[in-house]
Amino acid sequence: MGTLEVARGWVRSSRSLCVLTGAGVSAESGVPTFRGPEGLWKQRDPMSLATPEAFAEDPKEVWEWYQWRRRKIRGCAPNPGHAAIAAVEAAKSDFLLVTQNVDGLHRVAGSRRLAEIHGNIWIVRCATCGAEREEFGDFPELPPRCGACGGILRPGVVWFGERLPADVSDAAMGILSRCEVLVVAGTSAVVAPASGYAAVAKRRGARVIEVNPDETPVSGICDAAFRGKSGEVLPALLG
Ligand code: OAD
Repeated sequence: MGTLEVARGWVRSSRSLCVLTGAGVSAESGVPTFRGPEGLWKQRDPMSLATPEAFAEDPKEVWEWYQWRRRKIRGCAPNPGHAAIAAVEAAKSDFLLVTQNVDGLHRVAGSRRLAEIHGNIWIVRCATCGAEREEFGDFPELPPRCGACGGILRPGVVWFGERLPADVSDAAMGILSRCEVLVVAGTSAVVAPASGYAAVAKRRGARVIEVNPDETPVSGICDAAFRGKSGEVLPALLG
């Protein structure tokens, strides 16, 4: 297992770098993760709410959960982990941040070369006509309605059972097929397809580095693992 100094050297000398993030990277900003006790809303498992079936059955309830998450995120600012990822991007000619996070905090921190593979919670899309826009405010009535056609608006995120948008999926597979180093931070690595990304990079010889206080299903294939908070480890690893 590599030490922090060794892993830092891999990152520094790499010409092509990929960073994969999950909800844990925003935990120190105050955004609840999905699989910790904080992530529960009315004792409901997010897996039962983040589905097209749940939305078809009860759009108001699904929206109440998203409104709860949007309110929480609105009061949150990026932490030093987000900042370190944004800073390392500037030092690399070939770089992509692949994030499962929908909170938008990577953009606020300054990340520009990023693939938000699960979408963005500030985007709303009409389930009927497909019209899409950014909306940062609260909706007075739930579910919100489309101004153009009157259809029900949905959050611009990817739900369980839905395909990732082709452009972000292709971008993620592209960097995984050529990066020399992959840093996997703050993800429980149980949700496909991102749960398989470390294996894709590892198979072709990339160094894989994990940053997570806990072990995950990908820990076993990592060349180095740092069991700390991303807001503390990432500045040291990527700086
Ligand atoms: P999870 O909530 O499943 O996992 C969060 C991970 O972050 C866990 O492994 C924690 O150990 C770790 N963690 C907690 N605090 C941390 C910290 N300060 N620094 C670093 N790591 C920390 O979140 P994801 O893996 O992102 O999908 O979940 C994947 C997907 O499942 C989400 O994008 C969402 C969810 O359902 C959809 O909604 C489609």
